[in-house]
This record gives sequence, C-alpha cells and structure tokens, in this order.
Amino acid sequence: MQGVTVVGHPLVQHKLTKMRDRTTSTKTFRALMRETATLLCYEVTRDLTMDTVRIETPVAPTEAPVIAGKKLVFAPILRAGLGMAEGMLDLVPSARVAHIGLYRDPASLEAVEYYYKTPEDIAERLVIVVDPMLATGHSAIAAIARLKASGVTNLRFVCLLAARPGVAALREAHPDVPIWTAAIDAELNDHGYIVPGLGDAGDRTYGTR
Ligand code: URA
Repeated sequence: MQGVTVVGHPLVQHKLTKMRDRTTSTKTFRALMRETATLLCYEVTRDLTMDTVRIETPVAPTEAPVIAGKKLVFAPILRAGLGMAEGMLDLVPSARVAHIGLYRDPASLEAVEYYYKTPEDIAERLVIVVDPMLATGHSAIAAIARLKASGVTNLRFVCLLAARPGVAALREAHPDVPIWTAAIDAELNDHGYIVPGLGDAGDRTYGTR
C-alpha cells in the first residue's frame, strides 16, 4: 500500500512472534519492545537528508556525511508508546521527546487527550509519532492532528503492529504521513483489539494485567 512500509527483517519478525506469544513474561516482552523499536527506528530513519561537514581524522582532512537539520523528535503516545521510544532513543540518543497523553474511551473507542508536552520549536523538526499498536487509528489520527495544530508539517508514524482498518483510517485522515510497521493483521474484535494481535501492549509492557 502507498505510504506504508512493512519491515520484514527476520530479527523484527522473530521478536514480534515472541511478543505475540501469551506465555512471554512482562520482563521479556518489555525487552523485546525496546529491541524491536530500535530496529524499526533504523528503518524509519533510513532516508534522512544528509549534509557534508569538513573534519580532520588523525590522518588527513576530509569531508564526511552528517544528518541535516535540527534533531529529531520522537512523539510516543502514552503510555504504550513509551516502551518503544526507549528503544528508539537507544539508537538516536540526542533526539527530543514529545509526550502525547491519550486514552481510549472504552465505549466510543475515541481518543481523549489528557497530556501534551513538546519541545518549543517542534514545528521546525521531523516528528516521528510512536505507538506500538495501530488498531482503530483513532489515537494516531488525534495525535497527528494535535501535532499539526502545533505547526508540525514533517511527520512519520511508526508502530509495531497494525490492523488493516487502522492503516486505512490513518492513511485517509493523514495521507501526508507515511507509516512503518512490522506487520499488518487483518481485523479488530468488538473491543477494538487487533486479531490475532498481541493483546494490550501497555498492560503487557508494564505488567498491569
Ligand atoms: N491497543 C492495544 O494495546 N492492543 C490492541 O490490540 C489494540 C489497541
């Protein structure tokens, strides 16, 4: 699908399968979330614009590439996005972090905002929105709309696992925002959970259920 990258790397797929397994412990699930996010971060940053700088090695002067522009922003959607953001920060430790607090109204499944804190100059930066599960798409759509209202124009979305309806909804609402995911499952159940999915990513990361 246009604007959607499924990261089929064997390491990502292997780790995702372990995360899907209901017998995987909280400790292992959290570690796998972090590791998988690092691998997805590598893919989502693959085409960043580069500049050239003049440096001196111990042997000779040379020109060498560096990432152009201001530092990236990772924007985890609370709370499950935090587990992924940690893994992305392992790879890009100087990135800034914008926290977006949204919860799903259990009846309507709509996203309700309760927290929003970003770097002041966020509008000048590439913002990578992070949430492990793209289910209905409501949270991702709301988070991206909120960032756009703050002036952000350069956005990407990365998740661990998506559902087909969520991908379609996000692409329709924000066609300018490309998506990276490790897999796309076919459907959602009546509670808005991805099937077969991996359960509640927040609960499994933090051991709350
Ligand atoms: N959020 C989750 O954590 N899991 C799902 O399956 C859907 C939304």
